[in-house]
Amino acid sequence: MDIPALIAKAETTHTLAKDEIVALLADDAHTDALLAAADRVRRLYVGDEVHLRGLIEFSNTCRQNCHYCGLRRDNAAVVRYRLEPDAVIDLARKAHGYGYKTLVLQSGEDPYYTVDKLRHIIGEIKKLGVAVTLSIGEKTCEEYSAYKEAGADRYLLRIETTDRRLYEALDPGMSFENRLRCLRDLKTLGYEVGTGSLIGLPGQTLAAIADDILFFRQIDADMIGVGPFIPNPDTPLAAAGGGTIALSLKVVALVRLLLPDVNIPATTAMETIDENGRIKALRSGANVVMPNVTEGDYRRLYALYPGKICVGDTPAHCRACIGGKIAAIGRRVAAGHGFRQKRTAR
Ligand code: 5AD
Ligand code: SF4
Ligand code: FES
Repeated sequence: MDIPALIAKAETTHTLAKDEIVALLADDAHTDALLAAADRVRRLYVGDEVHLRGLIEFSNTCRQNCHYCGLRRDNAAVVRYRLEPDAVIDLARKAHGYGYKTLVLQSGEDPYYTVDKLRHIIGEIKKLGVAVTLSIGEKTCEEYSAYKEAGADRYLLRIETTDRRLYEALDPGMSFENRLRCLRDLKTLGYEVGTGSLIGLPGQTLAAIADDILFFRQIDADMIGVGPFIPNPDTPLAAAGGGTIALSLKVVALVRLLLPDVNIPATTAMETIDENGRIKALRSGANVVMPNVTEGDYRRLYALYPGKICVGDTPAHCRACIGGKIAAIGRRVAAGHGFRQKRTAR
């Protein structure tokens, strides 16, 4: 296929067929042109502002057993913690003090946090005037509805992979159908919905990644977080090969080209495998960064994968660090809440 023509088509029409996406993912001769096209589309649609979302990792306890994840329930090597609701609210207040306009509450799937506890946490944090994003896994429609009523604005739930067989092999006991049901419920309830996938899972093909990108479009996702799979030594996938920065950046770029107005984070996993990974992602289509605002030892214990960045740093240090990096590439930290502004193609 004529790769430069495909890049031009993606940049102008924001549409590609599956085999065209696969051809771009497979090509290594025109990567710079692909990433540059995505950077132009990013600038045209969402501008030079970078939205910061403060990430609170409030519990590393999980009832699921995903083969790739260090927080899986069978991993006895991780010391488990749970922050009490008032401690979560306290972290949120501090993060608000650093200027964050969105706070992301993330945890394993931890039944300790009942609807009542979460309602209390969300309600108190909303009083700060921030947008609240939840990233706490699969729940019932009633639960999602209760969190929404309490004030939650957004929800992150990665599909991880749209290859149904691979999904069910890597996430034992979980059903692909239920994950789709969750994403549908969240959309129907009026959340801004974030999803995304892992890049470089064992057995994942480029065709499956192309399907992921088309899936994000099909469900009209508002936010799309992709990052490399990083093998964790305390999991069944310890010996697997991980994802690469090159392929992860190409996926970010293709997501921006095909869904020009969505919010795309430059993920922590990118920076874990490449010391400049987040900045590279910001220059390949991304427009969001999610600095960690968890304090103390909890950062280290929230060990999805090894080598996670910022585990010894404070929220204040990370805020200053990322602010400096964003300014250094001529971008600026956004002042608003950073909701998706739906735009028609230009
Ligand atoms: N490498 C990279 N990302 C991972 N996640 C879980 N385990 C890993 C890993 N080993 C991601 C999943 C999950 C998100 C919170 O962290 O995609 O949705
Ligand atoms: Fe639990 Fe999420 Fe890790 Fe799966 S990926 S084990 S659901 S924290
Ligand atoms: Fe944490 Fe740079 S963002 S040290």
